[in-house]
Amino acid sequence: MIGAGLRQADDLVRDGQVHASVYRDGHVFQHELDRIFSTSWVYVGHESEVAQPGDYKTTTLGVQPVVMVRGADDGQIRVLYNRCRHRGALVCQLDRGNSHFLRCQYHAWTYDSTGALVGVPLPKRYVKGLDRTELSLTSVARTGSYRGFVFASAAPEGPSLEEHLGNARPYLDRLAGVEGGVVVGPVAQRYAYDGNWKLQLENVVDNYHVTVVHKSFVDILAARTGSRGQWHSGSAKDLGNGHGLLEFPVDTGAATGGEDFNLVVFPNLAFVGYQIRVVHPVRVDHTNVVVQPMLIAGASDEVNAARLRVHEESFGPAGFVSPDDVEVALGRVQMGTAAGNPWMELTRGLGEEEVLEDGSLRGDITDEVGQRGFYRQWKASMAGVELVQEGGSL
Ligand code: FES
Ligand code: FE
Repeated sequence: MIGAGLRQADDLVRDGQVHASVYRDGHVFQHELDRIFSTSWVYVGHESEVAQPGDYKTTTLGVQPVVMVRGADDGQIRVLYNRCRHRGALVCQLDRGNSHFLRCQYHAWTYDSTGALVGVPLPKRYVKGLDRTELSLTSVARTGSYRGFVFASAAPEGPSLEEHLGNARPYLDRLAGVEGGVVVGPVAQRYAYDGNWKLQLENVVDNYHVTVVHKSFVDILAARTGSRGQWHSGSAKDLGNGHGLLEFPVDTGAATGGEDFNLVVFPNLAFVGYQIRVVHPVRVDHTNVVVQPMLIAGASDEVNAARLRVHEESFGPAGFVSPDDVEVALGRVQMGTAAGNPWMELTRGLGEEEVLEDGSLRGDITDEVGQRGFYRQWKASMAGVELVQEGGSL
């Protein structure tokens, strides 16, 4: 049950409070797919992941499978729905690959790397003919790239990618501007959790938990360096458009991976140091996450190996950071949302934010500034969605 007096999805978010239904209600989740993942710019991958003609990478736009592919002949990157135009099977099964042709495994309809249908077995029994030009793989309405980061939007119209990224752009510039350029992957670490997709993004801009959930890691770093670090120094920012930031003092950033900020780009992308984290909603209470380190093109093997070791130590299955977050910040929060008073607090630093020249809001690093910004965008996206109670609409 959602609760008396709550009629629309935007009633579920107040300034400083979020209702547990945003994590639990399947109806809300379906509307998120329509209102957020089918309209906003959604991150799909980095250009370096499809560096060669014919390279492709599969991912999702919300729950919709898509493939980012670089044309074998024209070198252009396209984002296509990964759905055969015959009976709808996935065309590309693998996480990544290289091919001049994408062939469906069901009846072998074959598409080229631009999505054009170029081969249909046993065509004679299409007695009324088959217009192949009408049966290309469907392109996602808009595709855009910013500093090598590729996004797609299922909405033909709306804010440009640059407008959407807004105040997050300088931080993407910093990530992309590393001397030598950035290469993403090719390794990818994947995990799944039984919790709502938004919990992962909230957690990336939550500094309040660090010395609690990650106490063992903080202790190990203290033993290594002889310093307890300044885990609660720095600032938290609401960058607008749902994007959030934690900015650390440089020495603490170095301990966690070399970059001195965590960034969330609404709705599905996060950076923790130089690790890219992409969130894939599956069901209201189940989420897949893909984490990839950004390596430096042209850097020595030693430099990139060191980045990989930091990645493993922090985010790998036996790492000191991610497994604890998955257990506590994602899993236990989802479980707790079933009990008692459904309203959850996001009030740290509320009302004390400093308004910066670019319109961003800045607070203390343990403040829940970034999370409130995320939910401001969520609320705007979900405005007017009618809530359905058990047994029918209110
Ligand atoms: Fe793809 Fe039949 S479903 S060829
Ligand atoms: Fe954490």
